[in-house]
Amino acid sequence: MEDFRFQNSTDIRFGKHHIDEELHDAVAQFGQNVLLTYGGGSIKKSGLYDRVMKALAGLHVVELSGIAPNPKIDSIREGQKLAKDHDIDVVLSVGGGSVLDASKVIASAKFYDGDAWDLVADRGSQSRANIDQLPVVDILTLSATGSEMNAGSVISNPELNVKLGTYGPKTPAVSFLDPQLTYSVSKWQTAAGSFDIFSHLTEQYFDRSTANDVTAGIIEGMMRSVIKWAPIAIKEPDNYDARANLMWGATMALNGIARSGNANGWTVHPIEHELSAYYDITHGVGLGILTPRWMKRALSAETEGKFVRFGREVWHLTGDNDHEIAEKAIQATYDWIKSLDIPMTLGGVDINTDEKFVEMAQEAVRIGHLDQGGGYVNLTVDDIVALYQASSTVEGFE
Ligand code: NZQ
Ligand code: ZN
Repeated sequence: MEDFRFQNSTDIRFGKHHIDEELHDAVAQFGQNVLLTYGGGSIKKSGLYDRVMKALAGLHVVELSGIAPNPKIDSIREGQKLAKDHDIDVVLSVGGGSVLDASKVIASAKFYDGDAWDLVADRGSQSRANIDQLPVVDILTLSATGSEMNAGSVISNPELNVKLGTYGPKTPAVSFLDPQLTYSVSKWQTAAGSFDIFSHLTEQYFDRSTANDVTAGIIEGMMRSVIKWAPIAIKEPDNYDARANLMWGATMALNGIARSGNANGWTVHPIEHELSAYYDITHGVGLGILTPRWMKRALSAETEGKFVRFGREVWHLTGDNDHEIAEKAIQATYDWIKSLDIPMTLGGVDINTDEKFVEMAQEAVRIGHLDQGGGYVNLTVDDIVALYQASSTVEGFE
């Protein structure tokens, strides 16, 4: 087990009965000037917008709408201007991970006078970790990213074909998690969100640390839960237990608990972020396509033990032949992803050319330090090009 520090101060209000009663005070404790952020309109369609406005009565509310999936830097720039012009005290984010990720960076941008993209791109002295951040309150409407209890944001700059993670000094101050708000999430987004949760777990499970049994066991339990409840939520969108387990699973998968004691090298996320940066595809779907191919590449004599444990503890596989268990675990992962109706090739998300594979692989290696111990097993540019190619066909899986 590696040394670690774990601290998380987000105030979680989970369940059916918090929002209408508690939202006003949860926001007003930070001030009167509120920047309300949301996406493309799902919150108006569901009636949540009206509930929020009612709860905020008496406060000075400024709105920023239209934050897109894979949130773009232009929304942050717009939010930065509003936050400064209206002397905003608190950001209220209502939506999925994209709205929340953008809101967190806007919360930092209030205290920055330059171009907001610096806050995403700069890893040095201007890094967001060194700049103040407004409190963020959120109402989550999609279970996936864990953004509701972590300090990360992932922001895209379409002009540069870049999608980058950035970390602020604070996790959200208060997160309202009502699983009922996710009943209206489409099957596609439910599948994508569920696989995003699963991917956060695999990224932290296949880890170079040793003897980290507590974390591995916690992750296995969460994996079994996502495997069980995702298909139910897809079939029965208003199944409360399914939506509740996915919501809490998403939060717990990426709030720091599942990384405690890890070496923490993520691999598939940097490789997927390039797909989203170049082709603006749904993050969880990209992960679903890439992950089984990556697992095949990562399996070796050295890593077999972890894959065997994954097979026995997560997929309930039995038998004496370890190598067979490891391979069956990867196939079981593929079959489960496919059962969620995630298209299992890049062609399924309209990526029908390999013209950007080398460029994307170079960026993934650079950003994720994937050839220098940045991931679970080292990968070169050629390895990643091969992964993109393997993701273009179902060969080896069907
Ligand atoms: O924009 P609206 O109209 O709200 O519609 C959204 C959007 O079109 C819709 N939606 C959300 N809640 C809904 C709903 N539709 C009906 N009913 C509801 N209740 O769903 C669409 C996708 O929303 P989005 O917020 O993009 O999804 P998600 O939560 O999966 O967020 C994905 C983004 O998070 C980043 C991803 O890269 C991607 O940009 N990530 C953030 C992480 C973090 N902060 O820690 C980690 C992740 O690995 C991930 O990279
Ligand atoms: Zn993710």
